[in-house]
Amino acid sequence: MSPFLLTRTLPEDATEAALRADVLRGLTRTPKTLPPKWFYDAHGSDLFEQITELPEYYPTRAEREILIARSGEVAAATGARTLVELGSGSSDKTRHLIEALTDLRTYVPVDVSDSALTQAGQALIAERPALEVHALIADFTARMTLPDTPGPRLVAFLGGTIGNLLPVERAAFLASVRALLSPGDALLLGTDLVKDEKVLVRAYDDAAGVTAAFNKNVLTVVNRELGADFDPGAFDHVALWDAENEWIEMRLRSRTEQSVKIPSLDLAVDFAAGEELRTEVSAKFRREGVRAELSSAGLDLTHWWTDGEGRFALSLSVAR
Ligand code: SAH
Ligand code: AVI
Repeated sequence: MSPFLLTRTLPEDATEAALRADVLRGLTRTPKTLPPKWFYDAHGSDLFEQITELPEYYPTRAEREILIARSGEVAAATGARTLVELGSGSSDKTRHLIEALTDLRTYVPVDVSDSALTQAGQALIAERPALEVHALIADFTARMTLPDTPGPRLVAFLGGTIGNLLPVERAAFLASVRALLSPGDALLLGTDLVKDEKVLVRAYDDAAGVTAAFNKNVLTVVNRELGADFDPGAFDHVALWDAENEWIEMRLRSRTEQSVKIPSLDLAVDFAAGEELRTEVSAKFRREGVRAELSSAGLDLTHWWTDGEGRFALSLSVAR
């Protein structure tokens, strides 16, 4: 059986330092914000998996439909021997791709969630013993160093997670992905598409309240890691469509005037009644916008596939 390697590219205290810096910066500015990567402790990763099964949350099903239909074409177009997946989570949909990539030697899942990486990696090597799995605990918005594995290289960024980056962050991110590739290597990118506002808002405000729990989980993470005293019950989950920016915004709205203590930052954060903290944007895309953003990063769009209902797109682009 091939080894399952799990590598942490940053020491654990660097993660805590990054959380401290993000919380200090985000909660002392107006409006208050927190970056979405802090949703994903073991419980948050589990809640995200539950979201993917919700009737209202269509992106995972739509992207899976495309992967089932098109993975053969991705394999033929790329001949990839190394697959790097950013924000791989459970790697569940990726199985369709891995099965189709007949020349694949090495799979490199990259995620901030070590629980998700460990579960996914161990399941995969049990299923595909000849596949080398080199999992990396890393932040894909920071500089990434990948293991030296055989080309051609295919980088996959699925689920529409690119939409969780702000436009300026997306440009820097795509440039850093391009830097991981040699000319002719490819990027497989999942993007959720602009659609009816009601469908979008429902996907981020489900009837069972799982997305609300996922949203509030970031407060639990800050409580545990930084000793804060957020009461998640004192905040309401908010999901709204920003038509100008074409993104869904998730927020936490303070039910009352309150002061939250964060001892490890020696900080008290005051919330007015009704004040909102932005926890995530989830941008929705159009084909020409995706093509232009890829092209600015040195990636030429070669394929654009959507599901039968045109809700979600998977694009393949090649490094110039
Ligand atoms: N690709 C999977 C999971 C999407 S959920 C799917 O399509 O279903 C988003 C994943 O990205 C989570 O597993 C989360 O832990 C990871 N993630 C979020 N921000 C990250 C960052 N900055 N660096 C690395 N991983 C990140
Ligand atoms: C991971 N990412 C693409 C999800 C999304 O749809 O933006 C995260 C999520 N937030 C709320 N529901 C799911």
